[in-house]
Amino acid sequence: MYNLQTLDLGPWTLDLGLPMNEPIQFRPVAIPSPADLRLQADEIHVWSLDVHRPPLEVVKARELLAEQECQRADRFRFEKHRRRHIVRTGVLRRLLSAYTGQPPRSIRFSHGPKGKPSLAPGTAMPQIHFNMSHSQELAVYGFTLAGPIGIDVEYLRPMPDAASIAERFFSAREHQELVQLPEGLIREGFFNCWTRKEAYIKATGDGLSKPLDQFDVTLIPGQPARMLLLDGDAQQAARWSYHHFVPAPDYIGAVAILGKGFRVEARQIRL
Ligand SMILES: CC(C)(COP(=O)(O)OP(=O)(O)OC[C@H]1O[C@@H](n2cnc3c(N)ncnc32)[C@H](O)[C@@H]1OP(=O)(O)O)[C@@H](O)C(=O)NCCC(=O)NCCS
Repeated sequence: MYNLQTLDLGPWTLDLGLPMNEPIQFRPVAIPSPADLRLQADEIHVWSLDVHRPPLEVVKARELLAEQECQRADRFRFEKHRRRHIVRTGVLRRLLSAYTGQPPRSIRFSHGPKGKPSLAPGTAMPQIHFNMSHSQELAVYGFTLAGPIGIDVEYLRPMPDAASIAERFFSAREHQELVQLPEGLIREGFFNCWTRKEAYIKATGDGLSKPLDQFDVTLIPGQPARMLLLDGDAQQAARWSYHHFVPAPDYIGAVAILGKGFRVEARQIRL
C-alpha cells in the first residue's frame, strides 16, 4: 500500500530519499443502490463529489432532504450556496442508504455536543462512522466501521496571509516549518496543515473548541501526513492515522482516524 520513505523516530522523521507515498487514486463510480455497499473492518471509503449540478438534479436531490435541511437550504442568501448544500446533503443521504439499506429520506441524524452528525439510534447499521467536508464546488465524504473519522477538503485558493494565519492558529513548530518553505510551496504547505488539523478536530467532534496549536502535524509538501505531537505527547499522536488525498485539481484533503493499518478506497461520484 505505502512505500517506506522515512525512518520513524517519534516526533522526528529522517528523510531516506526513498519514493513518496502512493497517491490515493479516485475511481469514477455511480452511487450504488440501497444496501449494495459493504465496508470491511479495516477500510475507509472516501467519496468525492462535484456539486456543480444542473437544476433538475438539484430538484431531485431536494426531494431526499428532511424538512430542516430544506429550511437550512432556504436560509442561504445565494443560489450557489443553496444548490451546494442541497446536492451534498442529498448525496450524503444516498450514500448512507447504499450502506445501510434504509431509504435516503428516512435516514435520521443525531448531533454531538459540537454539532458532529452521526446516524441516530434506531437507524440500520448505527456502527457506521462518517464525516463530510466541502469547499467551493467539491464535497468529500469518509465512511468507516473502525471508529470516529474526520475529513476535510480545501480549495487551494491564494493565501497571501498564510504566514500570519499560521502564526496565529498553528503551533510554533508548524509556523516555523511553513515560513521556511520556498515561496512556491507555502500555499500547499499551509493547506496540508489546515486540512490535517481540521480532519483531527472533526474526528474527535471537538471542532474549534480544541485549540489548533495544541497538536502538531506534518505539512511539508510530499512528506507523509502524520500527527507529530498531541498535547505535547508523541505517543498519543502516533496512535492517529492520516491519509492525504487530492480529489480534483486544486483541491487537497485529509482523513484522520484513531488506529493504524487502514486501507483507503477512493471513489469519485458520477451522478
Ligand atoms: C466542524 C468545523 C471544524 C467544520 O468546519 P468547516 O471547515 O467550516 O466545514 P467542513 O466543510 O469541513 O465540514 C462541515 C461538515 O462537518 C460536519 N460537522 C459539523 N460539526 C462537526 C463537528 N463538531 N465535528 C465533525 N464534523 C462536524 C457537518 O457534516 C458539516 O456539514 P454541513 O456544513 O453540511 O452541516 C468547525 O468547527 C468550523 O467552523 N471550523 C472553521 C474553520 C477554520 O477556521 N479552520 C481553521 C483551520 S487552521
